[in-house]
Amino acid sequence: MTKIILTGDRPTGRLHIGHYVGSLKRRVELQNSGKYDEIYIMIADAQALTDNMENPEKVRQNIIEVALDYLACGLDPKKSVLFIQSQIPELCEMSFYYMNLVTVSRLQRNPTVKTEIQMRNFEKTIPVGFFTYPISQAADITAFKATTVPVGEDQAPMIEQTREIVYKFNNVYGETLTLPDILLPDNKACLRLPGTDGKAKMSKSLNNCIYLSDTEEEIQQKIKTMYTDPTHLRVEDPGHVEGNPVFIYLDAFCKDEHFEKYWPEYKNLDELKAHYMRGGLGDVKVKKFLNNVIQEELRPIRERRLELAKDIPAIYKILEEGSKIARAKAAQTLSEMKEAMKINYFADKELIAQQAEKFGK
Ligand code: TRP
Repeated sequence: MTKIILTGDRPTGRLHIGHYVGSLKRRVELQNSGKYDEIYIMIADAQALTDNMENPEKVRQNIIEVALDYLACGLDPKKSVLFIQSQIPELCEMSFYYMNLVTVSRLQRNPTVKTEIQMRNFEKTIPVGFFTYPISQAADITAFKATTVPVGEDQAPMIEQTREIVYKFNNVYGETLTLPDILLPDNKACLRLPGTDGKAKMSKSLNNCIYLSDTEEEIQQKIKTMYTDPTHLRVEDPGHVEGNPVFIYLDAFCKDEHFEKYWPEYKNLDELKAHYMRGGLGDVKVKKFLNNVIQEELRPIRERRLELAKDIPAIYKILEEGSKIARAKAAQTLSEMKEAMKINYFADKELIAQQAEKFGK
């Protein structure tokens, strides 16, 4: 069976290490595994506009930031199609037909949409476009016949909604669309990286992110002032690793080799955690180690990003070429959909003959 990946991000800011461990790093591994026939990575500008309608310039400016983050992390335009959502008008057409297959109450039950409505104070003023973005996301996924959607846990309800639309469409119009599967990060710490302040989510508005494009000094400063265990007041006190973002970041980033290189007193993270919980290990030392681990991972990304940024027109060219390829794929799927829906009137010889006969009598 053909294996196809589609995934993407809203261009509302530079990407941070939550995006990186939650999805980006995995995408690069999947891309390089050679196990996928086609890979599509989408900059979801149209979806970003559904909750940024008053701020289109923000979306416009961040397209290039996200593209630079993608390429710097190792997404390779020779292996993955990088494209911009709004350049594929077929997606709107598909969404329009999918709207008939989804009820308002089903959309209202979508947990991700529910939280986002609260976060944005949309309770009384929710734009229709935002409310229906899960439908448009189903178009994003099905247009490319994606079998695999690597995303963070928060996107699970979107994939579920997509699967329901696929079942419904195939049921009404005949087997046409491909049923996608979600692919979650396999490391639990990576499911949702907390902010440097300990809040559940990294978010630009909370100012608690470490960005892939941060300088060495910025990263160091952010780690130095990170929230840890508030009950760990003196070095001798026993500490807690659960819910402690310093240890969650270590869970996400640290490998045994890092100990060998930066902190040979311990063999692995379990030993370090045990000492911290026993007491007698200060936060400053742990943070210093975390800084070494994260710097090592982000340094090559940052350096590639600076290099890539020297030729911005070339980045737009990559996105333009990718959008052309993506559009051809979506157009093919749309044409199959319209045939299944029997709204391909002019190509339907049988229909024309049948109507001619009816009126001929
Ligand atoms: N909703 C995703 C996000 O907020 C972005 C996105 C849009 C997406 N369409 C998609 C992700 C299709 C996966 C598949 O980051």
